[in-house]
Amino acid sequence: MSAFNYRIDKEGVAILTFDLPGDKINKLTTQVMEELDRLLDELAGKREIKALVFRSGKESNFIVGADIAEIKGITDREAGERLSRKGQHVLNKLEALPFATVAAIHGPCMGGGLELALACTYRIVSNDRKTALALPEVRLGIIPGFGGTQRLPRITGLANALDMILTGKSVFAQKAGKIGLADEVTFKEILLDRAIALAKKKIGEPRPATIRAKRSLFIRLLESNPLTRTVIFRSAQNTVLRETHGNYPAPLAALKAVRYGMAHGSEAGYTIESNLLGNLAPTEISKNLISLFYLQELLKKDPHRPSIIIRAAGVLGAGVMGGGIAQLFGEKGIDVRVKDINPGAVASGLREAWQIFRKRRDKGVLTAIQARDGFDRISGVTDYSGFGKVDVAVEAVVENMNVKKSVLRDFEAVAKDSAIYVSNTSSLSITDLALASKHPELVAGMHFFNPVEKMQLVEVIRGKKTSPETIATIAALARRLGKLPVIVNDGPGFLVNRILMPYLNEAVTMLEQGNTIERIDNALLSFGMPMGAFILLDEIGIDLAYKVADILGQGLGDRIKPSPLLETVYKEGYYGKKNGKGFYLYEGRKRRGPDRSVYARIPQRTGSTGEIGHEEIVERALLLMIMEAALCLEENIIDRPDLLDGALIFGIGFPPFRGGLLRYADKLGAKTIVDKLESYAEKYGERFKPPLSLLEMAKTDRGFYEKAGLERLKAA
Ligand SMILES: NC(=O)c1ccc[n+]([C@@H]2O[C@H](COP(=O)([O-])OP(=O)(O)OC[C@H]3O[C@@H](n4cnc5c(N)ncnc54)[C@H](O)[C@@H]3O)[C@@H](O)[C@H]2O)c1
Repeated sequence: MSAFNYRIDKEGVAILTFDLPGDKINKLTTQVMEELDRLLDELAGKREIKALVFRSGKESNFIVGADIAEIKGITDREAGERLSRKGQHVLNKLEALPFATVAAIHGPCMGGGLELALACTYRIVSNDRKTALALPEVRLGIIPGFGGTQRLPRITGLANALDMILTGKSVFAQKAGKIGLADEVTFKEILLDRAIALAKKKIGEPRPATIRAKRSLFIRLLESNPLTRTVIFRSAQNTVLRETHGNYPAPLAALKAVRYGMAHGSEAGYTIESNLLGNLAPTEISKNLISLFYLQELLKKDPHRPSIIIRAAGVLGAGVMGGGIAQLFGEKGIDVRVKDINPGAVASGLREAWQIFRKRRDKGVLTAIQARDGFDRISGVTDYSGFGKVDVAVEAVVENMNVKKSVLRDFEAVAKDSAIYVSNTSSLSITDLALASKHPELVAGMHFFNPVEKMQLVEVIRGKKTSPETIATIAALARRLGKLPVIVNDGPGFLVNRILMPYLNEAVTMLEQGNTIERIDNALLSFGMPMGAFILLDEIGIDLAYKVADILGQGLGDRIKPSPLLETVYKEGYYGKKNGKGFYLYEGRKRRGPDRSVYARIPQRTGSTGEIGHEEIVERALLLMIMEAALCLEENIIDRPDLLDGALIFGIGFPPFRGGLLRYADKLGAKTIVDKLESYAEKYGERFKPPLSLLEMAKTDRGFYEKAGLERLKAA
C-alpha cells in the first residue's frame, strides 16, 4: 500500500498527502523515502502541476521524524552515512521541483519531518497547541541528517537555528512565525485552504529570499560577517560545553556541520553532515538515549483503565510543592481547590502557580487565553469548603506523620466516599498513613519532584491496602498532567529518594573529611549530574533532606542516617535556597559561591582523609547509589531495572547519556563494583558492604539488565 497519494486541482495545484498505512503517525522510514523519491520524479515530469501542497493525512501529526527503530539498528558508520545521504538526496529533489511547494503543518513536525518541511519553499502552520516544530536529534545522540543543519540557518538565521539544533527544543506556532520558520500561522480548520491559496499566489513567482526571520539590524550584521559569525559559533560552543561538560558529542558535531556549511557552501555541508551522523549513530551514547526515548514512550502508555475520571481536585498545603501541583491541574483543565492553614501560603501558592502560567505563556507553550483559563480554575481557601466535591486530593503539607494523619482525617470528614487521597510525602510510609483512613484502598502516594513544572517523574506508591483501581487512576492522572508515572511499592523513601539519600549523605561525609564543597560538586558535575550534591541539597531544602535522611535511617539502618554535619547545619537553621542560607550563599534567589561558614560547623569527631581525587569522589557517591538500587530490587520496591533507571533520570536528572544508574553499573560490571565496594568498606566502614544480590551477580558475572532478561543488543 502506498504512503502517498495526490490529486491536481483545475488550477494546477497538486495536493500531496502523506498517510503511512497502518500507523497512527507519519514517519520517514527508508521505504517511505524510496517511495517519495520515485514520486518526486513523477511529479517533476507533470507539466500541468504549477504548485504543490504537502500535507499529512493523519489527524494529529504532520511527521514525527525518521524511524527511530532504524536509527537504533545502525551499528556501523557506513550505514549511518547511507541513511543520511538517501534522506538528503530525496529532500534535495523536493527542493529542486520546478514549482513552489507549501508544507501545511498541523501537529508535531519533528526531526526528518521538519527537514522535509524545510525543503519546501513555504511553510504554513496551525496555531493549535499540538503543533510543535523541532530538530530533536541531539536528544538521541545524533544530528539532523536530512540537510537540516544546512537549511535551517538559511531560513531562520544562525542564532535561531542554533538555538533549535543544539538543544532539540520545540518551537510553537507564534514563535515559528517570528523566526521565519513559518510563512503563515492559521487555524487548523482552514489550514489546507490557506495552504492552497498560498500555493496559488506563488505560481510563477521567483523563490523567496532565504532568511525570513524578523531580526534586528544588529543580529543581521553580526550573522552576515564571517568574522563576527565566529563570535556566535564560539559562544554557542562555550554554552554547549558549559551545559554538557563535554559529555554529549552530538551538539558539538551539529555545530561543526552548521559552521562548515556556512563557510564552504551547502554541498560540502551535506557531506560533513552525513559523515558526522555516521560517526554518532553507532555510539553507545546514542543507543542509551534511544533506549531512554523508548522508555519514555512506554511510561506514557496507559496499560490499565482508571476507575474514575478526575473532574475536580483538591491540594492540601500550598508550600513549595502545592502551588506547582495546583498549576498542573489548572493547565490540564481540572478545577482545583487549594487549602492551607496559613492565608499567606495560599496567596503565595497562587502566585507561584501564576508565575508558571506566565512563563509558559511567554515561551509560547500556552496562549494568553489558555494561561488565563488555566489559572482561573485554581481557587484558594483556608478551610475545607468545596472539598466535598473533589474526586482526588493531593496532600503536600509538612513532612510529619501526625500532621499528615490528621489532615487525612479532616479531609475524609468532608469528602465523598469515593474520593481518592494521595500524599506527596517524600519518605513517610503510605501503609502507615492509610491506618488513619476509613478507606485505605483509596489512599496512595503521588510523589512529584521539585520543581514540579520541570521534573517529568511522578512516583505512584502502592501501600499494602491500596487497590489496583486506585493505582491505575493515579497513574492515569499523572499522565493526564503530562508526567511519567513509575509505580513502586511502599518502603522508606520509596525508590528515588532512597537511592538519592546515600549519595547526598556521602557528599556531606566527604566534605567533613576535608574536601571542599566546590571540589565535590565539580566532580559530580563532570560525571554528568545536572547539579552538584550541595546545590541539590540547597534546592530540596536542607531541613527536608535532613528529615528524609532521618526517616530513612530509622527504617533502613545506619548506612543512611544523616551525617553529623547535615544534622548540625540543619539544627543551626541552614535550610538552603528557601531561607537563603545553605551550603551556598544567596542574594535573593541567586546563588553565589559556597558558604565558608559551613566549614566551621564540621564536627571535630569526624576523621579527616584530606583531599581525595575526583575519581574517588564520584565512585563513593555512585557506588552507594548502585548498592541501594540493588537493595530496592531485592526488596521488590520495583521489579525492573529499566524502570528504576527511568525513575532516576526523570526524577533527579541522572545523566541520560549514561543510560541510567543500572546501565552504568552494568558497564562497570558487578565484579568491579563488588571489588571497589569491599575496598571502600575496609577504608570507610560498613556502609560500603555489598549486598547479597550484588555478590551473587559478581559470582555469576551477570548484570542487572541481563538478570532481568532485558539485555538489549550491544552497541558496536
Ligand atoms: N520540597 C521538595 O523538594 C519536595 C519534593 C517532593 C515532595 N515533597 C513533599 O511535599 C510535602 C510538602 O513539602 P513542601 O516542601 O512543599 O513543604 P512546605 O513547608 O513548603 O509547605 C507545606 C505547607 O503546608 C502547610 N500546612 C501545614 N499544615 C497544614 C494543614 N494541616 N493543612 C493545610 N496546610 C498545611 C504549611 O502552611 C505550608 O504552607 C512534604 O511531604 C514533602 O516531603 C517536597
